[in-house]
Amino acid sequence: MRARIERIQKEALEEIAAAENVSTLNEIRTRVFGRSGSFVLLNRLLKEVPKDERPYLGRLLGDLRRVISTSLEKRESFFEKERDRALIGDLDLTLPGTALEYGAAHPITCLLDRTIAICRRMGFSCTMGPDIETEWHCFDALNTPNDHPARDEKNTFYLQDGRLLRTHTSTIQIRTMEHQFPPIRMFSSGAAYRRDEIDATHLIQFHQLEGLYISKDVGLADLKGTIVFFFRELFGWETEIRFRPHFFPFTVPSYEIDVRATMLGNRWLELAGCGMIDSAVFEAVSTKRRDQAYSPEVVSGFAFGIGLERLTMALNGITDIRTLTENNIQFLSQFH
Ligand code: DAH
Repeated sequence: MRARIERIQKEALEEIAAAENVSTLNEIRTRVFGRSGSFVLLNRLLKEVPKDERPYLGRLLGDLRRVISTSLEKRESFFEKERDRALIGDLDLTLPGTALEYGAAHPITCLLDRTIAICRRMGFSCTMGPDIETEWHCFDALNTPNDHPARDEKNTFYLQDGRLLRTHTSTIQIRTMEHQFPPIRMFSSGAAYRRDEIDATHLIQFHQLEGLYISKDVGLADLKGTIVFFFRELFGWETEIRFRPHFFPFTVPSYEIDVRATMLGNRWLELAGCGMIDSAVFEAVSTKRRDQAYSPEVVSGFAFGIGLERLTMALNGITDIRTLTENNIQFLSQFH
């Protein structure tokens, strides 16, 4: 029996050493330790040997089990390591990793944040409005006649249901008056859309900052004072501001605002539109509201709209407006 045990042990160890994969090891394990394996068989035989030999042979059997199990485990973990090494292949773990790119706020967002801070300090509160608008909010309520070129399909994106992508943020003036009682001091920023040919100075989507102030006895001096304060806060107290008479259907008188500042390259830039709210706008709102809260007899007010792209470009020396939407990380990382 002893010879048998030793032979089985020797053979098993040789086979384990020669095994080339885990499945061969499993076969060996079954052959030795399986239900009809040699180990079970030997255990059974142990009961038939003379009593005085049993302890010794029993110990030998125990050793057999330990030695073969250990050898199987060792060989198995060797195969496991081999497999890992094959998976990693010739991966060079000493190479430096891919560095994280830090993001930064977009230059338009940076400018917007500063303008918002100024509006808030003047006591204006922030309002929002939808990009998809009705013709009434975008044109009719803003006293824009049916044959106005802005209403042409060539210039404006119309949806199939007759709604449109707002061509300016002045729509929010109307929405605010619809839902709030005067006095009103609000600003709002957002995208506007026009069917322009895209080039270095035009996009089909751009951003505006809209402001609206309505109360009793609001006059032109309030408008001018607010605008001058706004731009001087933004560009410094040396900033020059010019109000150039213009026409907008929803304000009278209306002005375009030109600004000159060192920060903007010291040339006159046309940056905004503004004016005193036309009574036709108050009347349209009153009809919709079915009350007299905005009767032109009672309230007056001013509004302004500032284009953010042109301002951002002037501030940062950007010459092509398209770079603002291309999401080129090299371009954007300049504004960290
Ligand atoms: N909405 C005008 C534009 O897009 C700018 C503007 C805004 C003019 C508000 C205004 C005004 O008179 O009150 O060009």
